[in-house]
Amino acid sequence: MANTLKNSFAQQTNLIDPQSIPSRVKVDQKRIINCRADVNQLMPIKYQWAWQNYIDSCANHWMPTEVPMARDIEVWKAKDLLTEDERHIIMRNLGFFATAESLVANNIVLAVYKHVTNPECRQYLLRQAFEEAIHTHTFHYVVESLGLDEGEIFNMYHEIPSVNKKDAFVLEHTKALNDEKFDTSTDEKSQQFLENLISFYVIMEGIFFYSGFAMMLSFKRRNLMVGVAEQFEYIMRDESKHMGFGVDLINQLKIENPHLWTRELQERLVQNIRLAVELESEYARDCLPNGMLGMKSELFEQYVRYIADRRCERIGLPRLFGDENPFPWMSEVVDLRKEKNFFETRVTEYQTGGALSWE
Ligand SMILES: [Fe+2]
Ligand SMILES: [Fe+2]
Repeated sequence: MANTLKNSFAQQTNLIDPQSIPSRVKVDQKRIINCRADVNQLMPIKYQWAWQNYIDSCANHWMPTEVPMARDIEVWKAKDLLTEDERHIIMRNLGFFATAESLVANNIVLAVYKHVTNPECRQYLLRQAFEEAIHTHTFHYVVESLGLDEGEIFNMYHEIPSVNKKDAFVLEHTKALNDEKFDTSTDEKSQQFLENLISFYVIMEGIFFYSGFAMMLSFKRRNLMVGVAEQFEYIMRDESKHMGFGVDLINQLKIENPHLWTRELQERLVQNIRLAVELESEYARDCLPNGMLGMKSELFEQYVRYIADRRCERIGLPRLFGDENPFPWMSEVVDLRKEKNFFETRVTEYQTGGALSWE
């Protein structure tokens, strides 16, 4: 203990020893991984997309407790406003997302953050980690508001096979990073890190979240469970940013390390994405064994294939399925929100940074 303190004191005093001041960080020294330039200096910024994602995400700040739940409580407690099939869909999705958000948060904090050696990307990762905490908070708030069995919701990832398989799949493909001694010093390990980024940003947040988003948002279109659905809209808006940042991060890592993008790696990724699409289709069938008002599970399976193709294209992999989007209204929800003021339906505007007062 004493030694640790002494070492840390020595490091701090070195910071103010003029003899030890290294040359200033130059923008072309900055790299996504294996960078030797000082990670404590945000500026000069090299990756504007990382900083812009951080700024945009801060502007999108929201809290689940700001969304009124009174109408949802009425609908949930009424005997005749939701069918058993509809309750099943809602419960499954609450159960999947309740723990998936924590899995993503833990991966960012315990794996990604350490190995991304760029301060503007880390700035975004800190913001993303907080957003994942807000998303987990959402499920706590929904469980409390609707009086649900918290044990049932938060244990689904252990107890429900279609949920468990998705989480287990992501963890299986990222387990190399659990080793405390893991680093990105070799090509093989850097490829494992790249695979971790693709498993979480493209598969988990980019594919495994989307049939659930479509199911939950379809309730809002029918004016049912509008509070929970609105929370899913906010989460989906955040997740589309997370995936956008992840894609930029992956592509920049590829630009700086083109030798990592081997044919073998691409084939393995294609195989993983195909498997992920199968697992997500199984999840959709489990959520909708009997369909819901003209929306059969086949449509959700088609939507998952359409989404997977879009993700593949963005990271430089071929389209695998060629399906049309069966839910064009989903892209309207994602796309519109980027231009329109998402908060216009809220009582108070959230973007009030200039109005803070210390008096
Ligand atoms: Fe999230
Ligand atoms: Fe996320």
